[in-house]
Amino acid sequence: MPYEPILLARVAQPDSHRLEGYRADGGYATFERALKDLKPEQVVAQVKDSGLRGRGGAGFPTGLKWTFLPKDHPGPIYLCVNADESEPCTYNNRILMEKDPHQVLEGIMLACYAFKSQKAFFYVRYEYGDAFRTLQAAVDELYAAGLLGQNILGSGFTLDVVLHRGAGAYICGEETGLIESLEGKRAWPRIKPPFPAIEGAFRKPTIVNNVETLACVTQIMKRGIDWFKSLGVPPDPKNPRDAGSYGPKLYTIAGHVNDPKCVELPMGITIRELVEQHGGGVWKGRKAKAVNPGGLSMGYVNVETKLKDSDLTEYDIPLDFNGPGRVACLGLGTAAVTVIDDHTSMVDVLHNTCQFFSHESCGQCTPCREGTGWMLKITDRMRRGQGRKEDLDILVDVADRIGIMPGTTICGLADGAGWPVKTAIRKFRAEFEAAIKSGEKSKYAKTLSVVGAH
Ligand SMILES: Cc1cc2nc3c(=O)[nH]c(=O)nc-3n(C[C@H](O)[C@H](O)[C@H](O)COP(=O)(O)O)c2cc1C
Ligand code: SF4
Repeated sequence: MPYEPILLARVAQPDSHRLEGYRADGGYATFERALKDLKPEQVVAQVKDSGLRGRGGAGFPTGLKWTFLPKDHPGPIYLCVNADESEPCTYNNRILMEKDPHQVLEGIMLACYAFKSQKAFFYVRYEYGDAFRTLQAAVDELYAAGLLGQNILGSGFTLDVVLHRGAGAYICGEETGLIESLEGKRAWPRIKPPFPAIEGAFRKPTIVNNVETLACVTQIMKRGIDWFKSLGVPPDPKNPRDAGSYGPKLYTIAGHVNDPKCVELPMGITIRELVEQHGGGVWKGRKAKAVNPGGLSMGYVNVETKLKDSDLTEYDIPLDFNGPGRVACLGLGTAAVTVIDDHTSMVDVLHNTCQFFSHESCGQCTPCREGTGWMLKITDRMRRGQGRKEDLDILVDVADRIGIMPGTTICGLADGAGWPVKTAIRKFRAEFEAAIKSGEKSKYAKTLSVVGAH
């Protein structure tokens, strides 16, 4: 039986963004019921027991994060909704905000009720003008209906939602960069600890959650834990640290495909199924060569590389929280699947990748600022046909040394900059070597590289 979307169930309806239609479909009944019948702790427990893991990239268990807030804190406690969505080819949050903002807002209201926050800041990517205006209209509708503001529906619960237009940089999505930006400063990530749950926005305890995570909260509270756990992938019994990959997921399919789109499916679909069955296959009758399984920062899979003791290839890995890691990618990331066809040069692909991260590095940490710049300079000379024999090893060496994991930077942007470099070179080394040997100049080499934004 084909999967029936839940998170995207309403998006094709006319006026799907309006309060009237949302209420006609049962919207806000869950929130009203929670206000009346549930203690805040029960909402936290339900989200925790559902196994929901954050959809923003790191997959951290949502309910567990909420329990990190200090107990009996006098307040204020804040929620920051992360709608910065700047990972290349990722647009699932935008669809939710433009087409079904009330589903997200109900999740925000349930979350704030659960951890006793009276203020949510909704940080929306600068470029998302339509989403921002749609959200503002939805928030206005809620105030007019008495569902936001003081003493909501006579329950004693008070909540304000404040929209904030982002500052136009990828780093504004890193949770502490977002908080700095919200406070009116340059989005320079903070050294952690303290984590935001202890000291976040305006130095107060703060939860940062992604838009899709909060839409899942609405559906978990509405449909229950059993429904959520009936979808996706349970924990791997051989891995005691695996928390499973439950629930529905929005995947964006992009790059060299016939039918790029955002689809909702249970966690765990393979890349091949997603591209061939939902993305209309690779365009122009070509074959896929490489794929980013979850945004640029997760690295590349090689479609031809066989998995150990199997006829399957890296193209067949499941898109759950564990799948991409099994083929040396960083993780599921934003579940934005970008396909590169077999007519495309990996030298051009990698140069473009390095240009993005060098431009977006905030420049605070020397290994990230300089490392992303070096990787761009090296890939730039490779595409100009002036690559050197030693360049590939230097690139991998730089990529291995920058990031939180090697312990040299403040935030994960540097890990995300290194991962595509090391996976591309390790998985497509012969192509890079041949390009260096041939000394051929890329047809794109006339465009200028922009080294660093700082
Ligand atoms: C460089 C960088 C950019 C990020 N961009 C986003 C983003 O645009 N949206 C997002 O939700 N999380 C982003 N994250 C992850 C956030 O720091 C944070 O983990 C997430 O918002 C938590 O929400 P969740 O638990 O609901 O997933 C980014 C992380 C890094 C290192
Ligand atoms: S790792 Fe890069 S982006 Fe992150 S704080 Fe350091 S310099 Fe800035």
